[in-house]
Amino acid sequence: MSSDGPWWRGAVGYQVYPRSFADSNGDGIGDLEGIRARLTYLSWLGVDAVWISPFYPSPGHDHGYDVSDYTAVSPRHGSLDDFDRLVKEAKRLDLRVLVDIVPNHTSSDHPWFREAMRGTDDPKRDYYLWRDPAPDGGPPNNWVSHFGGPAWTLDPASGQYYCHLFLPEQPDLNWSNEEVRGEFDAILRFWCDRGVDGFRIDVAHGIAKDPDFRDNPLVREITDPVDPRVVFHAYDHIHDLDQDANIEVFRRWRDVVRPYGAMLIGEIGAERPDRVARYVKDRDGLHTVFYLQPVWMRWEPARLLSKVRAMHDLAPTGVSWVINNHDDSRSVTRFGGDPEARERSLAVTAFLAGLGGVPFLFQGEELGLSDGKIDPSDLADPISTRNAGATGRDGSRTAMPWDDGHENGFTTAPHAWLPAAPRGMEETVAGQRDVPGSFLNRYRDLLAIRSAHPELWLRPLVWLDTPTPVVAAYVRGSMAIVTNLGDAPAAIPLPLQGWEVVFTTRPAPVGVGATEVRVPAAMTIILRWTGP
Ligand code: BGC
Repeated sequence: MSSDGPWWRGAVGYQVYPRSFADSNGDGIGDLEGIRARLTYLSWLGVDAVWISPFYPSPGHDHGYDVSDYTAVSPRHGSLDDFDRLVKEAKRLDLRVLVDIVPNHTSSDHPWFREAMRGTDDPKRDYYLWRDPAPDGGPPNNWVSHFGGPAWTLDPASGQYYCHLFLPEQPDLNWSNEEVRGEFDAILRFWCDRGVDGFRIDVAHGIAKDPDFRDNPLVREITDPVDPRVVFHAYDHIHDLDQDANIEVFRRWRDVVRPYGAMLIGEIGAERPDRVARYVKDRDGLHTVFYLQPVWMRWEPARLLSKVRAMHDLAPTGVSWVINNHDDSRSVTRFGGDPEARERSLAVTAFLAGLGGVPFLFQGEELGLSDGKIDPSDLADPISTRNAGATGRDGSRTAMPWDDGHENGFTTAPHAWLPAAPRGMEETVAGQRDVPGSFLNRYRDLLAIRSAHPELWLRPLVWLDTPTPVVAAYVRGSMAIVTNLGDAPAAIPLPLQGWEVVFTTRPAPVGVGATEVRVPAAMTIILRWTGP
């Protein structure tokens, strides 16, 4: 990390999905104490910041993304004292802690929503989005939920519908209500006062809605009405997502967190890089954004590189780069599911590592994990449990494999909350930690190289011309990163003579000639210019 500028300049983040990281009390569900006990591992790995997905009180319909109290810890995951101990240990190890804030919706169990349900005159009624039915008695407009069905549920007592872009148990907040804005200012301050260093903002692109609640245009045929993602993507979400008013809210948040030096990272689920860049453009909204195309894609290397380059060029320091999170299949599975797919994943991550912004790993990515194998009867994600046959998000959410003991060292309970086939020793932390050249050690080496060469995030980036769209290369100061995501070796011209290889993502020979470098398939290399 750099001593100049904000703390996150040059940092690398790591996402922990608390239910599945480490269970300290043997109930099958991961907890804060489990995370605290594993912080030394993250410090050894070389990450600088840990983002912890929600651990707040929640009925758990969306596994914590349905929050019923924003300023407490679910007994499932521990207590506020545990949280304080975790922050203390993180500070001792020089790790930053980011928490996940969920402003688009609360749980339907949140006291605000319970009060709002008392009737149209209740003072909390306007905290949420209510509309009268359409003339035929149905939902007020054609908006659909990410998790299936309409984005509206009828409250029979009042005859009005409330809006929910996710489950009916996740009613959307009304961000044009000044009191809602004030509540969240206080929530941000609460966590900053407890020592957190920043926030990952859930569905940051969704919080403001069209004031007239107009229909979204249907732009594609609905080819699979059972799969909520297919239905959702058949509409152009011009009225329920990505409204200009979102950015206004983040400008306000920026003022709230400024005195603490805390970081704001928004999850921006927009597809177009120019729409995503809006959130960081004027340097007064979010500090960085999660750009999700690389998390959604299967193996399409040319498209991946062109999207990443477009996103980078619009926001050179404003992206928190990810290819994995808890909402999609792991990259190793998406990129082919075989040993080569692991190489592809590491090659892409190494390519992203020098792009500026803040790269993040998702727990287990550093082990080269593919999706966990789950018996269909054990699936727990609402996308699958509420839409028979739809592929949900559980594959990336199975327990972190620490060793080859009972439940891979995750829990002493008979099985984890999301039971999955055991991983082999070679897929575990214990099985890789002391093995030179293991995936874990290659990720660790990558982070060490990045940290040792601040030019990789500080110096201006210059793209090099490459012979094919599955190859990309850039120079930053005296460092260069070259990636070959093709299936065959590629020769890439270099601008000067005198490069030495300082890192390769796979143990394969690289030919550095006077004017070019020859890179094997599915591999990224980092070079340093040492003079002719
Ligand atoms: C989170 C999901 C969650 C949804 C609703 C997302 O973007 O990452 O896990 O289901 O928001 O809160």
